[in-house]
Amino acid sequence: MQISDLGHEDRHTIEQAAALLVEGFRADWPEAWPTHEVALVEVYEALEDGKICRAARDDDGMLLGWIGAQPTYSLVWELHPLVVQPNLQRCGIGRALVADLETQVRQRGAHTLVLGSDDETGMTSLSGVDLYPDVWPHIAAIQNLRGHPFTFYQRCGFVITGVVPDANGFGKPDILMAKRVG
Ligand SMILES: CC(C)(COP(=O)(O)OP(=O)(O)OC[C@H]1O[C@@H](n2cnc3c(N)ncnc32)[C@H](O)[C@@H]1OP(=O)(O)O)[C@@H](O)C(=O)NCCC(=O)NCCS
Repeated sequence: MQISDLGHEDRHTIEQAAALLVEGFRADWPEAWPTHEVALVEVYEALEDGKICRAARDDDGMLLGWIGAQPTYSLVWELHPLVVQPNLQRCGIGRALVADLETQVRQRGAHTLVLGSDDETGMTSLSGVDLYPDVWPHIAAIQNLRGHPFTFYQRCGFVITGVVPDANGFGKPDILMAKRVG
């Protein structure tokens, strides 16, 4: 596996990256990228100047996964999006993409990576409940009910820093996470 920049000229990989967004998010985030066209817009946004877009490919050039990031504060970058081929998940590709991204943002002087990971489909104990008014006890007691990626990010060294209650409708929060990388 090799991880390198995804460039505008690589139309074949861009098409694969869009298809992977649709496939990878369809089951648990059905509203994220429902069509290839919508996903293609996301890929091209990830390729804009000033952002980072990195692709993991096998020896034949097939896309295994990809990751993007953009600066949000002067020393902080937001990880978005990240996806790995469904049949190759839990093989270390996601962790390798995050580690590579950490190197990339560190080289640009950043000290923090942040991200938001939605729960729209009851994957965690934060879904389907009213998180107001005492949000923090809910966060402190979070349980992963169905393979939500917050556990993956914890394995990569991120911590939960908060939530956006009802981000995607009542009882559908966005889980906010961060990691010091500098
Ligand atoms: C989340 C995702 C990127 C993880 O990539 P991956 O290649 O499967 O993850 P890795 O194999 O590198 O896993 C690293 C560790 O996290 C754990 N892990 C990975 N996905 C997990 C999940 N969904 N739930 C719990 N633990 C998970 C692995 O078991 C491994 O644990 P270890 O430290 O004991 O070895 C991948 O599952 C994916 O593309 N999912 C669909 C899209 C998605 O959820 N994107 C993120 C949205 S914010």
